[in-house]
Amino acid sequence: MATVYTVPKLTDYSPASFETATRDLLSALESESSAIHGDTDWKIFRDRWMARKDGMVTQINDLWLKAAPKEAKREAGQRVNELKGKIAASVESVRQRIQGGRTASRLTSDSVDITLPGVRRPVGVEHPVIRTRNELVSVFRNLGYSVSEGPEIESDYYNFEALNFPPNHPARDTQDTLFIAGQDKKPPRERLLLRTHTSPVQIRTMERLKPPLRIVIPGKVYRNDPPDASHSPMFHQIEGLAVDTNITFGDLKGTLDHAMKAMFGSNVKTQFRPSFFPFTEPSAEMMVSCFICGGGGKRGAEPCRPCKTTGWIEILGCGMVDPNVFEFVKHNGYDPKKVSGFAFGMGIDRVAILKYGVDDIQLFFQGDVRFLQQFA
Ligand code: DAH
Repeated sequence: MATVYTVPKLTDYSPASFETATRDLLSALESESSAIHGDTDWKIFRDRWMARKDGMVTQINDLWLKAAPKEAKREAGQRVNELKGKIAASVESVRQRIQGGRTASRLTSDSVDITLPGVRRPVGVEHPVIRTRNELVSVFRNLGYSVSEGPEIESDYYNFEALNFPPNHPARDTQDTLFIAGQDKKPPRERLLLRTHTSPVQIRTMERLKPPLRIVIPGKVYRNDPPDASHSPMFHQIEGLAVDTNITFGDLKGTLDHAMKAMFGSNVKTQFRPSFFPFTEPSAEMMVSCFICGGGGKRGAEPCRPCKTTGWIEILGCGMVDPNVFEFVKHNGYDPKKVSGFAFGMGIDRVAILKYGVDDIQLFFQGDVRFLQQFA
């Protein structure tokens, strides 16, 4: 078994005994260095030979040079220096062999095969409802309207009372309201509900901003409607409100006619039919000529389903702001004797259904990527 090399004391300092000792040391250095294969090995090797405390270099310095008698010092100094140089060179060359090899193997393992197919990262797109909402908002932005928003959990006051729905008025029934439970102790107007329309934000905005005012209000609304192909308990509306001195029904018609042409194409026609909403007087429903069949009621030989062959599609409710509504915000500059305005409200999902030919509103809210990908 090979014994571990140790630095011997010199019995005499003759050239012959230096020769022997040097030969033994160099052969130990040689055989130890060729057995080094890793970084850890190399550090041990380096410390064994070069450590200040008790390394081989220190030992030959002590045993071969310091211990030498005066007359042998010169000779011993030269030999020890020469050995120090050889030891340092050996340690360095082993380092290069090991670390150089590591770099090479790392280059191989980190290399990239540029012939492999890449990783596909799907790019998100706007949901069709959001895209439709943004298109509608931008039509009105271009007319100088700002965007206003409000809470989805709303009080009875904003959702109904300030919009001229008196308590217990039958018009509240048409809204299929979802009320928050356990509020019987609160005064009726403070009771919370899920807003059934975006109209409460008309009041909230008029409380905040003085006239003149031109805003659109996009958002989610909720009704106790069981889900089916054309109903969803949550859906989207966009509301509009313009208030100034001398706003007329002519402004309402001109604005909405322009908006429909911007949205559905310059060929569409609009038509207004009398209706009722508590917060507008007079009130109307606006129809647009069917942009699917072009107003003829037929697609080739087939009946046009979106307009039920009538050639017209009901698209929104609108009207002149009822003076009773202004009474609730009179303190902020909305004196019904001085200002007038028009308002409208439209279902965004319905517009998206018509625009993209979707046959079931539920598809918008199921998050099925196969459906949504078609809009990418
Ligand atoms: N808030 C009504 C609804 O949800 C829609 C509506 C009709 C809004 C007429 C208006 C309006 O601003 O003037 O059914």
